[in-house]
Amino acid sequence: MCSDNLEAYIWYSNVFACYSNDIDRYYELLSAEIRRLNLDSKVLTTIGGYPLYFIKSKNSATKEKQRLISAGFHGEEPAGPWGILHFLSCLEPTNLTHINLNILPLVNPTGFAKGRRLNNWGENPNRGFPHPSMIESTAEQASLEGLVLLENLDLLKAASKDGFLTCHEDVCSANGYVYTYENQHEPGTFSKALRDTLACHFPIVADGEVDGCRVNDGIIFNQFDSSFESFLVSSGITLACCSETPGMQNLDLRIQANAELISAFLGRK
Ligand code: NI
Repeated sequence: MCSDNLEAYIWYSNVFACYSNDIDRYYELLSAEIRRLNLDSKVLTTIGGYPLYFIKSKNSATKEKQRLISAGFHGEEPAGPWGILHFLSCLEPTNLTHINLNILPLVNPTGFAKGRRLNNWGENPNRGFPHPSMIESTAEQASLEGLVLLENLDLLKAASKDGFLTCHEDVCSANGYVYTYENQHEPGTFSKALRDTLACHFPIVADGEVDGCRVNDGIIFNQFDSSFESFLVSSGITLACCSETPGMQNLDLRIQANAELISAFLGRK
């Protein structure tokens, strides 16, 4: 991450015919998909006047896996939330007899509305989730959004029991990569399938270091920090991926890539 926390990053989407920070249009289109697909939506809280939604399919297909998709932790990474919307717009209600949907579509609405990384209060919504190895006094505090996720931890752990995907972007990169977590020593099929989906759209970052983390073949593996994905894995879920689409590439390509990452994560292809 090299973005300036206060700089606004805004792009135009031809797919949605609006700017990437057009939050009113985002919620309007999201509400239309919730109605069309007859999904359950719950407002976990309201932040800066905007709802923090948790969306799920009704009458969850009980035999199917429980996987959670999230996006929009960082406001300058809009292709995740728009990618979720694009994914939903390609579904038919009949698809929901075979998959469970559990979605946090936009975790940091105040950041999204300004195209800025942090929330309106200067907090990072993807930090401050305590890792057992951290000394409490040195740990960053959870953000407003983070506290709400922690309050709803039982719900979110049940929803991510079989996997967690969190769609991020790296605005300073022209290349894609993923952070993945698996309960083994080397990246397995879960990590490689999501990396390969990203690689269909963008060059993969060269081996070396990204933000101080070792990256091999586009994968940063089992990297524990105070992020929400790391926290969920420490809490017992066994598969997680934080995808990083490259912000230096075209926005609509990034939106398309996120929709396909979600499909791949749900095992739809
Ligand atoms: Ni991010």
